[in-house]
Amino acid sequence: MSVTLAFDVYGTLIDTQGVVSKLQELVGDKAASFSQTWREKQLEYTFRRGLMQNYQNFSVCTSNALDYTCTFYKENLTKHQRLALLDHYRTLPAFQDVQAGLSQLKEAGYRLYAFSNGSADAVETLLVAAGIRDLFVGVISTDDIQSFKPNPAVYRHFLKESNASANLAWLVSSNSFDVIGAISAGMNAAWIQRSQEAIFDPWGIDPTITVKSLLELNDKLANK
Ligand code: 2OP
Repeated sequence: MSVTLAFDVYGTLIDTQGVVSKLQELVGDKAASFSQTWREKQLEYTFRRGLMQNYQNFSVCTSNALDYTCTFYKENLTKHQRLALLDHYRTLPAFQDVQAGLSQLKEAGYRLYAFSNGSADAVETLLVAAGIRDLFVGVISTDDIQSFKPNPAVYRHFLKESNASANLAWLVSSNSFDVIGAISAGMNAAWIQRSQEAIFDPWGIDPTITVKSLLELNDKLANK
């Protein structure tokens, strides 16, 4: 039976810091920290909405997080500027290793899915813009069940929709909360540690494997 790979999208395939150059035009030197706060708040809002069971889709979390970040950095961006930033977020770039890494894995016979908090429509747009949509069998979104990672129900939803069994399915993510969530839900998980500075949450739940780039994944999986 073939092995199924569930690729996290934002922060794993697609570089959320890709918005920094656009931000530089608007907030100057604060762009990098602005972008980081925006991303952290976006994720915090998904966690909180999940716990509260008060669902709004990922784009609402992104937009609310942008408003918070503008207030935090005292940046009075116009409605037009905010919309332009959110628009930019729909076509963020892929990381450098993505195209070649995914191609290797597809060639090796793995079933590749994009699995994200983002709505299927937003993820399709991102993957098409990054030129990698054709490498995937499909896109599966947590939006289908109106919840977010790391609710175990979203990983079960992935397995059901992809018709995969947990022992033959891997989550592939740079987000440590996602890796821990998938393992906790019974899947295998690969952590992509692109930067030495990236810290894995010290919860005593370790990734099944760790790689520094998607280009290492094929070999590492073959030896598992
Ligand atoms: C994603 O689901 C968690 O942002 C991450 O794409």
